Amino acid sequence: MHIHAYEKIWLAVSVLLILFLIGSVTYGAVGPGVAMVSDTEPAIDSGGLDEDERFSEPRVEQVGENEYAAYVVARQFTFQPDPIVVPANSTVTFYVTSADVIHGFEVVGTNANAMVVPGEVSELTVKVEEPQEYGLICNEYCGAGHHVMEGKVNVVS
Ligand code: CUA
Repeated sequence: MHIHAYEKIWLAVSVLLILFLIGSVTYGAVGPGVAMVSDTEPAIDSGGLDEDERFSEPRVEQVGENEYAAYVVARQFTFQPDPIVVPANSTVTFYVTSADVIHGFEVVGTNANAMVVPGEVSELTVKVEEPQEYGLICNEYCGAGHHVMEGKVNVVS
């Protein structure tokens, strides 16, 4: 089969573009000291969080030598726990779910960012380094108090 030279160029360009898009999704902008490395979403009953082993008491738990799990509930118009306190130089997996409507979970100034959907658990793993206080905001419109829905992620030594 004969392929015209222009077609070869366009093929090469489109392959490069696809690789670039995949790359930009895989390696998002990395913020200071926090880098998101995974994001998946298993299912959960948003009306039954009070009886859920992970979310009845939103908290941070140590799960390994330098590994922590943070169980976070977003609801109109707060995050629990607040602040979310995690030790410096550790790996933290956030499990975030909603008790009501769609919210956002964005650690300000980092690429840790997830949509929080009722019925789903958004999972995101970050590496935290230096002690620092981060803002936590909801970046999905969720009602009258959306603009005041915020919390803190405190990385402590
Ligand atoms: Cu919660 Cu906007």
